Amino acid sequence: MGSSKHLFWDGCDTVQLAQNYGTPLYVLSETAVRERCREVKKDFLCKYPNTRAVYASKAFLTMAMVRIIASEGLGLDVVSGGEIYTAYRAGFPMEKTIFHGNNKTLEELQLALETGVGRIVADSESELDIIEDAARRRGKRATLLLRVAPGVDAATHQYMATGHTASKFGFPLAGESISRTIQRIKGSENLVLKGFHFHVGSQLQSNRSHCLAVDALIKEMVLFSSDLGFVTEELNVGGGYGVPEHEGEERKPLKYFTEGIMERVIAGCEQAGIPVPAIIIEPGRWIVSEAGITLYKVGSIKEIPGVMTYVSVDGGMTDNPRPALYGAKYWGVVANRADELAGKKVTIVGKCCESGDVLMKDVMVTDQITRDDILAVFNTGAYNFSMANNYNRLPRPAVVLVREGNAYVIVNRQDYEDLLSGEVIPDHLR
Ligand code: LLP
Repeated sequence: MGSSKHLFWDGCDTVQLAQNYGTPLYVLSETAVRERCREVKKDFLCKYPNTRAVYASKAFLTMAMVRIIASEGLGLDVVSGGEIYTAYRAGFPMEKTIFHGNNKTLEELQLALETGVGRIVADSESELDIIEDAARRRGKRATLLLRVAPGVDAATHQYMATGHTASKFGFPLAGESISRTIQRIKGSENLVLKGFHFHVGSQLQSNRSHCLAVDALIKEMVLFSSDLGFVTEELNVGGGYGVPEHEGEERKPLKYFTEGIMERVIAGCEQAGIPVPAIIIEPGRWIVSEAGITLYKVGSIKEIPGVMTYVSVDGGMTDNPRPALYGAKYWGVVANRADELAGKKVTIVGKCCESGDVLMKDVMVTDQITRDDILAVFNTGAYNFSMANNYNRLPRPAVVLVREGNAYVIVNRQDYEDLLSGEVIPDHLR
């Protein structure tokens, strides 16, 4: 593929990776993930006493990822039986997991109790019934946080805002629901309440909503303490810490978000005369997004004279549904021509039968771009693999973990047989 410079990722030649493992290919830098985890430790866990950090596994979860998170000493946020099972099977210390979700099933709750999940985050009074039922059946006590909807807006895509009053998540902060629930848990043999949780939204570029949520919650914590004698031991302020959205944008360190939140919690509790609870954060995207890239092979190139040029790649909204879902922006480089000047404006599209299957609109690439080039798209480590699908019966790509020049397949590429697995032709159609 010519003698141009290649893009390297954690010491690996990405063009070589594409040749060895095929495309589309997710490539995740172990070094980058570990660097982020260490930043969490240095600038949050070691900086403030009585803090914990859990990685929001919905951003990207495989058994190898579980091992990395475990070895870095972080906890895990899980939201389904599938995520619990993955963590458990990979040998994760389950007491460090926190189980979220607005509609956990009885089976999922039983699995959580059986595997020793550390905290269950109750989302509503209705859900509490089923949590209590699951705990009673198992003869166990479920240790809980209550998720609250703090009634704050978040500056992000509406699908990623979760802290407003009309959110499907959490107990409304106003009204009697939380007080009633605190009383109820006090009287339950199978439930223990440790405190509260909120998650205001995702891909946030400031901590404004977090701080407003902290203020709102502390007010209520004071009342719970004075009126109900309930002292909040733990406050989980969720995740949502954003990553760059555009090429060249500087990344925001974790402390950019967490310093202000911690100041607010500490000052707020001191002023209110209540003890500062343990603070838990749940970064997902911030840990894994920039560690990941996706490699595609360029196929058809279509020039519509005077209009635009389409460059088609061999994946698309199946491996990265975020542009179609949220209007998310990406940027990339032709990996086998990494040193060539980007002098041509093109629109990169996937191979799905939908006009909305646009990975990158109007981006500059080398004017030498041609069939069989390898396109690397940056910042795809979060919510790409985890939201991948088989639309148009495209097999899901492999995931390769790279580390200082070595590559390890951590998820095999699906093949056509995998697409059929689980399918049955009834006798009358045979
Ligand atoms: N904690 C809770 C309770 C959450 O619901 C989430 C994300 C997180 C933590 C982690 O948020 P992060 O730090 O990754 O922003 N599919 C969307 C993102 C949805 C996130 C949902 N909850 C996307 O592709 O951008």
